[in-house]
Amino acid sequence: MESAGENLGGLSIAGGWISSSPNLDKNLGILSAEEIALAKMLLDKGQKHLFDHWPEPGVDDTRKKNFLHQVARLNSSYPGGLVSYIQNARKLLADSKAGKNPYDGFTPSVPSGEILTFGDEKFTLLEETGVRESRKAAFVLVAGGLGERLGYKGIKLALPSETTTNRCFLQYYIESILALQEASCRTVQGHGEAEIPLVIMTSDDTHAPTLSLLEANYYFGMKSSQVKLLKQEKVACLNDNDARLALDPNDSYKIQTKPHGHGDVHTLLFSSGLLNLWHRADIRWVLFFQDTNGLLFKGIPASLGVSATRGYQVNSLAVPRKAKEAMGGIAQLTHTDGTKMVINVEYNQLGPLLRATGHADGDVNCETGFSPFPGNINQLILELEPYIQELSKTRGAIAEFVNPKYKDSSKTSFKSSTRLECMMQDYPKSLPASAKIGFTVVDKWLAYAPVKNNPEDASKVPKGNPYHSATSGEMAVYRANCLMLKKAGVLVADPIIDIFNGQEVEVWPRVTWSPKWASTFTDVIWKVGKGCSISQRSTLVINGQNIVLDGLRLDGTLVITANDQADVKVTGHVQNKGWTIEHVDYKDNSIPQEIRIRGFKIYKIEQLELNYMESGKFQFKP
Ligand code: UTP
Repeated sequence: MESAGENLGGLSIAGGWISSSPNLDKNLGILSAEEIALAKMLLDKGQKHLFDHWPEPGVDDTRKKNFLHQVARLNSSYPGGLVSYIQNARKLLADSKAGKNPYDGFTPSVPSGEILTFGDEKFTLLEETGVRESRKAAFVLVAGGLGERLGYKGIKLALPSETTTNRCFLQYYIESILALQEASCRTVQGHGEAEIPLVIMTSDDTHAPTLSLLEANYYFGMKSSQVKLLKQEKVACLNDNDARLALDPNDSYKIQTKPHGHGDVHTLLFSSGLLNLWHRADIRWVLFFQDTNGLLFKGIPASLGVSATRGYQVNSLAVPRKAKEAMGGIAQLTHTDGTKMVINVEYNQLGPLLRATGHADGDVNCETGFSPFPGNINQLILELEPYIQELSKTRGAIAEFVNPKYKDSSKTSFKSSTRLECMMQDYPKSLPASAKIGFTVVDKWLAYAPVKNNPEDASKVPKGNPYHSATSGEMAVYRANCLMLKKAGVLVADPIIDIFNGQEVEVWPRVTWSPKWASTFTDVIWKVGKGCSISQRSTLVINGQNIVLDGLRLDGTLVITANDQADVKVTGHVQNKGWTIEHVDYKDNSIPQEIRIRGFKIYKIEQLELNYMESGKFQFKP
């Protein structure tokens, strides 16, 4: 380690550099040249207060050095370092104080995009294209969030997406990617080979449990080399409008930090070098998704097909959205200076923006019964090459915002420290007007059922709005599978209405299948023959690839498991006592949290289990 007496890039310490902080000056002798350079950078940026409490050398020396070690980390993990962070913060804080509207001068209009109808010819053709393109895709899962609203003690990725099979979200995602990988390879003559990469962005809060979940489950069948974890760092908190960094209230040798938001994913992908690696491996698409959407992959093939056929360099997945519904709308914003962007606009900003630009009624439904601005579900498909080009220009930086809670209307002090934040979906903000940006609207029941809210908050959601709870997330999986089977010709009984944890939901037959059974609707059609029916109280679990239902009449529970070499046809009348749904109280601590947050548990009384673990053709007829 260099000593303070050495020459430091033109700054001669031995020559008696005097900082503006007497307390720091006294300690120069215990610091290395790099540490002094960091301290100087902080002083230059108006952060003298960070050293005001530093005692004489010999007291807390290790803590002083640890402090500068943390500064080095914060400096290297932000594009442009802490100097840029502080500069950006000052600008954004000044804009916020001045009440500047980020959308001033912009007029919203409906961008171009594709509105899909599940199961029609266009949808199935796009799915076919999407499956073919999957070999050239990389998936990026943002999973660094705290999940405070859900209040689950573990990581959200470990939660069962449904409790009939207890397949957790991460398992569902990985199995879906592997299923697409296989299906995509089958489209290539002689069966091509591909390994679809998966990146998971974690944070200090989620990294270790995510890794443990993967390791404990052998990466759910994926090669461990296919999965890469990138950990996002938190950013420094800010105490005031001058962007003076906040010290941790519990440790005066530590800068207080908070999450920077899922926009970090772009910075991390850029700095990791992965994007160029993917490019060299002929990857064309990067698909971003979130930690708890048990339906997502039902919408992926068709949406990827849209990206490929329309040549979108940014494709935002969206669902129909009622005017004023509490979800962001995808809008094209055109500035008076001619610049344009297609971007997510939060619902509370969209209405005022429309009213301010000549639409007196604000956000209203059009002839379809929905707002013309589709609802953003924050799953993005980016074309890799232009993505790399753009990030090379911005060095991976992403548009940020700040949201200070002011003490009073003078806006001079904050109730508590704030920080800059960024969102994954703001990536298109820096793109030129010529960039091809669009959206794909898929049915909500097909592709969007996140689990974000705890039972108490979900039960207070105004009627007609989505609960986004573990209850609704699980019921949405059954509903989507049943609706797909119905569309494929199966006679599926209507749902009943029930209330769990104060939430009224439709309870459909509990139908689940492993992703390899069907990646697309065409797969479902191929695997369902004539004359099938499923009663409302039934449960159907399909685990395997080559399982065909033909004339199956199910009234009870049927669990079919087959390996990839077994061709199985299931037919005839299956009747048993089945599995029932029992109410449980979310306040009952004797029940595991992952169950009680649903308000129900599956009670297994009787089932028929069929297992085919050898190769060959099999037919089951009771
Ligand atoms: P959410 O908006 O659901 O936030 O994030 P959250 O932090 O998970 O939950 P709350 O707000 O505390 O209740 C959407 C997605 O972005 C990820 C989350 O893991 C989730 O998949 N995320 C969020 C990150 O990866 N990093 C962040 O800093 C924030």
